[in-house]
Amino acid sequence: MVDSKEIYAILTELKDPVSGETLFKLGLLKDISLTNNNLSLTLIASNEEEMASFEKMIREALKNCGIPSININRVLRTSTELKPKQKAKERVIEGVKKIIAIGSGKGGVGKSTVAANLAAALSIKHLEVGLFDGDIYGPSISKMFGIDGIAPMVENQKMIPANRFGLKILSMGQLVDEETPVLWRGPLIHKAYEQFLYDTLWGALDILLVDLPPGTGDAQLSAIQLVNLDGAIIVTTPQDVSLIEVKKAINMFRKNGVKILGVVENMSYFMCPQCGTITHIFGNGGAKKLNEKMDVKVLAEIPVSPLISKSGDEGMPVVLSNGDEHPEIRETFLSLANNIIEEFGL
Ligand SMILES: Nc1ncnc2c1ncn2[C@@H]1O[C@H](COP(=O)(O)OP(=O)(O)OP(=O)(O)O)[C@@H](O)[C@H]1O
Ligand SMILES: [Mg+2]
Repeated sequence: MVDSKEIYAILTELKDPVSGETLFKLGLLKDISLTNNNLSLTLIASNEEEMASFEKMIREALKNCGIPSININRVLRTSTELKPKQKAKERVIEGVKKIIAIGSGKGGVGKSTVAANLAAALSIKHLEVGLFDGDIYGPSISKMFGIDGIAPMVENQKMIPANRFGLKILSMGQLVDEETPVLWRGPLIHKAYEQFLYDTLWGALDILLVDLPPGTGDAQLSAIQLVNLDGAIIVTTPQDVSLIEVKKAINMFRKNGVKILGVVENMSYFMCPQCGTITHIFGNGGAKKLNEKMDVKVLAEIPVSPLISKSGDEGMPVVLSNGDEHPEIRETFLSLANNIIEEFGL
């Protein structure tokens, strides 16, 4: 006779080797049922390889339990489109008027730099601004605002965002040190997003910017799923604009009903500090091509400048730290902010 309690206990103890969490808690193992000694369950994995390793683990763990047949319903989480019932659009973050995601298909194109400076520029324009660092694995907003490792305060089990230069900021970088890799799977990322967005005292905000990690994976889907995004800004560099990843990112938002507010071409050109000559180091007109092909507005073209990276490293975005040295940089971000303010009539 098969002992159902024992089987349940074995299954619920199985751990995901990456995060150390149980598959059960991660929501990767569900619908466990035992009928006439036949076991059936649903197993969720990100790819075939992971599916095979989870399945092997399950079969190994149960091999001495005397179950004649194990029926595994395999579900691969590869789709970038959410089913309507997965969306929690009716949920709102109290007090927050507009939520905008900053994303791109590729890494290192300057999403966080644009998010940090746009947030600062919106605040200069007298808006109440929040900035949530949605890059759980590789947070950088905390560094850009000099709050790395400074844990947020907690009140009645809700986090209080850090207040820097009048902006409200929350980043995973406040909770872990730079050396600690964050190894979380999709379901945990989803939970973290939920906490950061809903269990946080954001207060009254005109706009909450969400800086997304690169790609079209779990974090992006969680952002789309958890909040009613009012729009997305796509950041690219001139040499990346035609890349399939950028189009994929645009399509992912559109497929899920999120409006693309436009594209920001970062590292667009270099202006000689002495003579003011502009050089398009990485080519020219890429964002405009994207505009024609994908019907996305070009919101800003931001120059490449050591001032931008230096201020990011030093914990104060260039919009705030750089007074008159290169006014065109500040002006570009302020005009980007104006674009967003006009779009939403803020
Ligand atoms: N316009 C610019 N001029 C000079 N340096 C820049 C510019 N934009 C970004 N950088 C630098 O490039 C690096 C990558 O920028 P950033 O972290 O903003 O990119 P990201 O797209 O958010 O990266 P990730 O995909 O890792 O999240 C940083 O060191 C940043 O300071
Ligand atoms: Mg980033």
